[in-house]
Amino acid sequence: MTPHPTGDLGDESQQFGLLVNSVTDYAIYMLDPRGVIRTWNPGGERIKGYRKDEVVGTNYARFYTPEDIATDVPARNLAIAANEGRYAGEGWRLRKDGSRFHASVVIDPVRVDGVLVGFAKITRDVTERYLAQEQLRSAQHELLQAQKMEAIGKLTLGLAHDFNNLLSVVTNCLDLISAQPHGEVSDKYIRTALRSVERGALLTRQLLTFGRGHELAPERFDTGKAIRDMHDMLQRSAGDAVAVELDVAGDLPSVNLDRGQLDSAILNLVCNSRDAMPSGGCIKITVRLQTERHPDDPHQEPGRFLCITVADNGEGIAPDDQARIFEPFFTTKTVGRGSGLGLSQVFGFTSQSGGFIRVDSTPGSGTSVALYYPVAE
Ligand SMILES: Nc1ncnc2c1ncn2[C@@H]1O[C@H](COP(=O)(O)OP(=O)(O)OP(=O)(O)O)[C@@H](O)[C@H]1O
Ligand SMILES: [Mg+2]
Repeated sequence: MTPHPTGDLGDESQQFGLLVNSVTDYAIYMLDPRGVIRTWNPGGERIKGYRKDEVVGTNYARFYTPEDIATDVPARNLAIAANEGRYAGEGWRLRKDGSRFHASVVIDPVRVDGVLVGFAKITRDVTERYLAQEQLRSAQHELLQAQKMEAIGKLTLGLAHDFNNLLSVVTNCLDLISAQPHGEVSDKYIRTALRSVERGALLTRQLLTFGRGHELAPERFDTGKAIRDMHDMLQRSAGDAVAVELDVAGDLPSVNLDRGQLDSAILNLVCNSRDAMPSGGCIKITVRLQTERHPDDPHQEPGRFLCITVADNGEGIAPDDQARIFEPFFTTKTVGRGSGLGLSQVFGFTSQSGGFIRVDSTPGSGTSVALYYPVAE
């Protein structure tokens, strides 16, 4: 459309045409009642990448994703606009080059003498805003999660210290009693009590680890060899129905870690995988050197991490549970089968060692837990 020859903006319809054709931030176009594109503007070309001659005469459903087309979203949106007087929404759409953008869409029905003759459609590319909001949401979620774990850690640490002291007193008293002359029956009771105290001490040690109050004893060792040495023990713990496979990269650098805690962490992961595969399956342990950015320190340069992944093809973790698995005493197992402290130990030890954990789980198809430990440079 060209301006009026005298240089003014011409009559109202010419002015309107000029307006629509000058807008490049919004795709503004008309559809017929079935969704076939009738007009196009530079905004449409800029946002979606199609020239006018490529789209006019084709159905607007081409901008929708295959998932939306499969569920008839394009026709449904037109029906909403026709029946309710307007459709407004946001969603992913496709550009000509196949890339996706997040669109804010408004569709208004156009009626002449009460008869639906088409739709006016306005689309805006809000991808940047959408991604920024998503990022903010996930950062807030992570912060909340970290604060929660911190709070539970403090509480746990306090409790564990107190229990440790109480248990020491009980152990000492039992030792004193057993040193006195006593009969066979008392001996049985003393042994039962000592066993319970030992069990209690184990639990409090795990709680201390979770609260990062356990004094670590780091040492430099060859992790590849350490994990290969554990293979037999892990296979025995997993049982006959579950195969434990190792895939350890050669030439792994040494790390500075508490070896006993690392062994416990891997054993805890293997036991969890075993429990998730009651009718058998495969646990694959992979050890690799990886360059990563620490998630708690995203501004830091990426560094080298030893990555130990324990993956199974078990029942997976329900999405609602995934945020809670590291909490002490969170368990989905029946009483006596699990105390909910295994992953708390893994979490406490790994974060106290400067590392981090990534969990990837799909209900019904399996879980993979990856432990990252900084490499001692
Ligand atoms: N590989 C896995 N597959 C499926 N669910 C898992 C897996 N690992 C952990 N979970 C879930 O996370 C929960 C917490 O695990 P965690 O190891 O902390 O405790 P637990 O195994 O229940 O008890 P404990 O380890 O103290 O014997 C488990 O009860 C289970 O629901
Ligand atoms: Mg466990």
